Amino acid sequence: MQRNIIITGGAGFIGSHVVRLFVNKYADYNIINVDKLTYAGNLENLTDIEDMPNYKFVRADICDFDAMLHLMQDEKVDGIIHLAAESHVDRSIKDPFTFARTNVLGTLSLLQAAKLYWESLTEKYEGKRFYHISTDEVYGALQMTNPEGIEPPFTTTASSSQHHLAYGTDFFYEDTKYMPHSPYSASKASSDHFVRAFHDTYGMPTIVTNCSNNYGPYQSPEKLIPLFINNIRHRKPLPVYGKGENVRDWLYVEDHARAIDIIFHKGTIAETYNIGGFNEWKNIDIIQVVINTVDRILGRKEGEDLNLITYVTDRLGHDARYAIDSTKLQKELGWEPSLQFEEGIEKTVRWYLDHQEWLDNVTSGDYLKYYEKMYG
Ligand code: NAD
Ligand code: TYD
Repeated sequence: MQRNIIITGGAGFIGSHVVRLFVNKYADYNIINVDKLTYAGNLENLTDIEDMPNYKFVRADICDFDAMLHLMQDEKVDGIIHLAAESHVDRSIKDPFTFARTNVLGTLSLLQAAKLYWESLTEKYEGKRFYHISTDEVYGALQMTNPEGIEPPFTTTASSSQHHLAYGTDFFYEDTKYMPHSPYSASKASSDHFVRAFHDTYGMPTIVTNCSNNYGPYQSPEKLIPLFINNIRHRKPLPVYGKGENVRDWLYVEDHARAIDIIFHKGTIAETYNIGGFNEWKNIDIIQVVINTVDRILGRKEGEDLNLITYVTDRLGHDARYAIDSTKLQKELGWEPSLQFEEGIEKTVRWYLDHQEWLDNVTSGDYLKYYEKMYG
């Protein structure tokens, strides 16, 4: 079936994996990547598919309502997968306005444009879909609890049929109350509410998913894992916030992209799905795995670079623990993470070490100057 789909934020980390998957898998779809190319957008993430006949790139700001409406009309868009966002918590602490603008007003502008366009058609919302990609950070922070005096992480089956390691006894479920703490998560929470409001008020066919921390190729080296891989390579200090005790739940980015594909095609309208791999890690433990992996691959003595660890002032309002329960997605739509964490980290470290030029371009910001010349 022919479909015309806008993917916003397709030049970013997760978006580029989603664009690549859709362009390669669905030859009869028309995939339109809409991205403003902020510091986080990089077309080098997509060089392998940029000449495919079913792919088009449009540089635009999702906050530009007229541009969004005209694009939807011109391309006869019937599906929107919305990833464009300001995504880095530390930046949101310094500059919350940009987060409110892009994440809240940008999402609203897309929703309103889709509403106007789809309601102008004879078939209206039939066969349409507005899929909003969000984060588990909207649920707030979980406690680290220690049942029966067992030292965490402990094995649990509390929240799924699988055994997994956990740092607490509670998890984020689809009906967990929203309690965002950072300006980033507050802006994402607000956008999630707007998406659901457009379903409840106008009947727009929407879906929201909330995913845990992603890792893998093409992630901006301002985020923990690529930043640390790059710093270890160059033997630069590794800034660990606070005591490094915070827990995050990590998912390989291609597993997230596969979940998005399944949910876009088979998910139930108006539902929320949590996406995560039951893979909780303390920051300091993950950092040690990354150091050992980089050292081994570079032929250094394993653990040689542990002395790069530098404890720095904690992030303001730093959430203690995130842990997603994705049982609903696993049971209802049959999705499962495909990679064990050890395998995923090995692949990720090798990718960054093999793509030093990509990292250098991103860290120097050279690609941004190129876009200014090309697109103004
Ligand atoms: P990213 O920062 O790597 O990419 C964001 C992309 O959006 C960039 O290409 C940027 O140029 C584009 N963009 C920003 N503002 C824009 C605007 N006004 N108009 C058009 N394009 C704009 O982000 P990411 O890590 O790939 O995250 C993608 C989405 O997934 C976000 O909505 C984020 O909240 C969500 N998410 C991320 C994670 C994670 O671990 N990275 C986890 C769960 C959910
Ligand atoms: P990050 O990759 O920024 O993702 P998020 O804040 O969305 O979870 O950070 C992951 C964890 O690593 C988080 O607990 C903050 C911590 N962190 C550091 O300790 N040092 C760093 O330099 C960065 C970027 C993050």
